[in-house]
Amino acid sequence: MYTVPNLKEYLSDPIQQVADLLTALHEEAGAVQTESDWKVFRDRWMARKGGILAQVNDLWLRAAPPERKRDAGKRVNDLKARVEEIVEATLQGIRTGVPAARADSDRLDITLPGIQRAIGAEHPIIKTMNEVVAVFRNLGYSVEEGPEIETDYYNFEALNFPPNHPARDTQDTLFIANQRTKPPREQLLLRTHTSPVQIRTMEKMEPPIRIVIPGKVYRNDPPDASHSPMFHQIEGLAVDTNITFGDLKGTLDHAMKAFFGSSVKTSFRPSFFPFTEPSAELLVSCFVCGGSGKRSTEPCRPCKQTGWIETLGCGMVDPNVFEFVKDNGYDPSKVSGFAFGMGADRIALLKYGVDDLQLFFQNDVRFLRQFA
Ligand code: PHE
Repeated sequence: MYTVPNLKEYLSDPIQQVADLLTALHEEAGAVQTESDWKVFRDRWMARKGGILAQVNDLWLRAAPPERKRDAGKRVNDLKARVEEIVEATLQGIRTGVPAARADSDRLDITLPGIQRAIGAEHPIIKTMNEVVAVFRNLGYSVEEGPEIETDYYNFEALNFPPNHPARDTQDTLFIANQRTKPPREQLLLRTHTSPVQIRTMEKMEPPIRIVIPGKVYRNDPPDASHSPMFHQIEGLAVDTNITFGDLKGTLDHAMKAFFGSSVKTSFRPSFFPFTEPSAELLVSCFVCGGSGKRSTEPCRPCKQTGWIETLGCGMVDPNVFEFVKDNGYDPSKVSGFAFGMGADRIALLKYGVDDLQLFFQNDVRFLRQFA
């Protein structure tokens, strides 16, 4: 028959003493068969005078030296709750015919290994976006976001794509159905780039501004090794007085070195976007072959043997764009700025040497785990 050990024994190993008490409790609960057994059992454990709980309280808690009181208090409290619970469950057990206390005691096996919960990790594309954003944060840029379902006005018109202009054809657009009754500029679509957030931000923030805009974009491209109908961009915009193409070059050259490594070189080629003038494409020297186009004896794949990799589109903000936000301080005769936009998925693909974009979206854990 269990008896409550004295304070000295308790203090020498409280965990063991608590475990012994609970073992005894479960054993005795398991032997209870009738309601009158149960009453005896209940009184033995819970009687205010002389019950085991009362003894525990006197011997382990009240008599404990001051520095052990806190700990003893917590254990005795937990024990009290546990004993009450088992005594109650035992009564339910005999009434329903299910031996609750027995089932409960079987539940605890302290020799079983612990449960390991997978804590997860950033997806490689999100990780890439965060790294690029961090480079610009360090330059004083702040982060802006905008809606993925966008109006024609923000996605095209205010970015200097006039209605029916052929430049719209370069971005195969997914339109939301049943919009025909709305005025053209209010019609909804899935944004084809993050550039609409340039306009949204300039509407709410006066110049000077320096922002980066990470986000999802959508185009009507069938999925293959280098295309996906949903992908990710990181946009940038700086507007102030006297911003020049030199600022654009210096900023992007720094950003590419910070992201790909200080040995990469950058090169700009003329390009066209309706919302920038002049526009350029930025190339970085291939960080796989070092710009030689060759990888020991093999031809270099990422740069297609050219030694250069296209990373983004950029340019000076077209004055026509400022006209749309002129009322908020963007007078095209007073401010100037530059913008850029890059595909985060493509950058992740190049950086990690992945040869099929679809791997990023199938989310096979065996693939993703490699980036965790
Ligand atoms: N929005 C352009 C695209 O998706 C990229 C870009 C952004 C170009 C900003 C210039 C300036 O193709």
